Amino acid sequence: MSTVLKPSQPEADADQELHVRRYKPLIGAVIENVDLSKPLSESNRQALRQALVDHGVIFFREQTLTPAQHVALARIFGNPIRKNIYLPAVTDFPEIEVIAHSDSTRSGGTDNWHVDVSWQHQPPKATVLHAQEIPEGGGGDTIWSSAAAVYDLLDADLARYFEKLSAVNTFIASPKKGALAELLSGYDIPEGSEENSVEAGLARVRDAAQKYPPIEVPVIKTHPENGRKLVFVNEGHTSHLLGVSKTASQNLLNYLYDLVKTPEVQARFEWRQGDVAIWDNRQVQHYAARDYGSARRRIHRITLEHDGAF
Ligand SMILES: [Fe+2]
Repeated sequence: MSTVLKPSQPEADADQELHVRRYKPLIGAVIENVDLSKPLSESNRQALRQALVDHGVIFFREQTLTPAQHVALARIFGNPIRKNIYLPAVTDFPEIEVIAHSDSTRSGGTDNWHVDVSWQHQPPKATVLHAQEIPEGGGGDTIWSSAAAVYDLLDADLARYFEKLSAVNTFIASPKKGALAELLSGYDIPEGSEENSVEAGLARVRDAAQKYPPIEVPVIKTHPENGRKLVFVNEGHTSHLLGVSKTASQNLLNYLYDLVKTPEVQARFEWRQGDVAIWDNRQVQHYAARDYGSARRRIHRITLEHDGAF
């Protein structure tokens, strides 16, 4: 008797046997045995979402992705938005911003620790980076610090005290000039162009200051998915604590910033071409090392919209 072949049906995406390997004891995981250019099953997608919530930042080594595949990957975690309208985007993919620093010393040689856009009430949920070009000779690592692990370092009485405090966040708070210098000059606008004039930069800062006045934020927040408490104030965007003296404010903030800089709560990632990193902006702070001089470094970035839960 002959076998009747069924007409081919749209197959459910096959499971990949991916493996989540802890990267550092307190933060980060590397997702192994996965090819992100192939379709991911719903159970794979769920495993990736869970890994991000559990570890704060997840890495995938040496992935070959088209822009469309990068967007599809990002959509597993949320809705892409444009984070910085002054950055160039990939042709036909406005949600993929191109971060191309050809001079890492441009803004004073260092970054500062920050939570992306924590000077707005609804900061982005997460970010999905795909490395296109890595500086020859190394450098340009990104470092993440677990704000939940930082909270866990606090003595119980001190933690309770911080939980009662509020702070003010603003995009012009940075003690380093980098952030403001970038706003003033635009990121990748060629030197000497109209848009790179001091006047154009000042206008951008003036517009942003009007649109985004300083906001009040809690010093300690709770992650909406894993329930962990975390330190939300950050060196890049917090100007001061409310209800305490100026001296107390600066000293208490510096105490928290020192904890954020503790190596035990950090994951430092040395990029290779094709690497993907995804971080949960609600539970980690990050820092981009600007130690590659004038070597080229190019990253594609997709930022995911705040989802209402944080
Ligand atoms: Fe950032």
